[in-house]
Amino acid sequence: MRVRKAVIPVAGLGTRFLPASKAIPKEMLTVVDRPTIQYIVEEAVASGIEEVILITSEGKAAIENHFDYNFHLDIVLSQKKKTKLAEEMRHLSNLIDIVSVRQKKPLGLGHAIWTARNVVGQEPFVVLLGDDLVLSEPPCTKQMIDLFNEVQESVVAVQRVPQEETFQYGIVEGKHVKNRVIKVDRMMEKPAPGTTSSDMAIIGRYILEPDIFDMLEKTTPGHGGEIQLTDALLALSNKRGMYAFEFEGTRFDAGDKLGYLKAIIAFALRHPDLCEDFSEHLKEVASHL
Ligand code: G1P
Repeated sequence: MRVRKAVIPVAGLGTRFLPASKAIPKEMLTVVDRPTIQYIVEEAVASGIEEVILITSEGKAAIENHFDYNFHLDIVLSQKKKTKLAEEMRHLSNLIDIVSVRQKKPLGLGHAIWTARNVVGQEPFVVLLGDDLVLSEPPCTKQMIDLFNEVQESVVAVQRVPQEETFQYGIVEGKHVKNRVIKVDRMMEKPAPGTTSSDMAIIGRYILEPDIFDMLEKTTPGHGGEIQLTDALLALSNKRGMYAFEFEGTRFDAGDKLGYLKAIIAFALRHPDLCEDFSEHLKEVASHL
């Protein structure tokens, strides 16, 4: 079955970014000239996704407005003859169909995904976490969909991380079945140091079979007292196969201050109007360090 739908959880409070995220959703923080959520939605669109399901909470309306048609802005830009910009804004509002579902209580990532069950229905879908920005060609999600079409089982994106950072991630153990593809044996959410020798960390891209919803239904609170997606993934991998995929590309943890700054630099250096002047500026700054 074709992967057509993407679930993007955006209900979190974004405490790592306070005070910036106090009155605006952290997903609306800008990387160069667009909010981080736009990169995520654009990755989904470029990967052939046809519908986005946002899992939202109170105070996240700016995200919906960002992808909506803004009649007033359209009129003003057209009157001022800013035709290209008006066209760009219309394109943004026509990017993809977006549906919102409210997560009514902050019970964890697994619970957030579970709230999408009726909108997703009985088909495989992709989950994209907004904190993880990935620079790659083809997009990370597209690489994963290609693998899913081949193996017809759930796929999680992984990246090797230093051992001392494994406690910050969902960690996968398994055996390589081919280049970049690992058959999953075991998964742990944020394992205590010394409890795994694996350095394969799950990053925020998943292609999931709809059976995950039954698993989530049965999942009890895990790490941090929250319903963890990783725990339900482990149950799913025991029921049927699951693969971890070492995608090609560079991932930035834009939910972390340093990762966010690194993302800004990487994306600015790829921006056609900015790259030259910005790299000159960086050289200048570096020469004074
Ligand atoms: C979530 C997942 C974790 C995964 C991480 C990737 O954790 O629970 O398994 O490794 O995203 O960014 P969070 O970063 O929301 O704590």
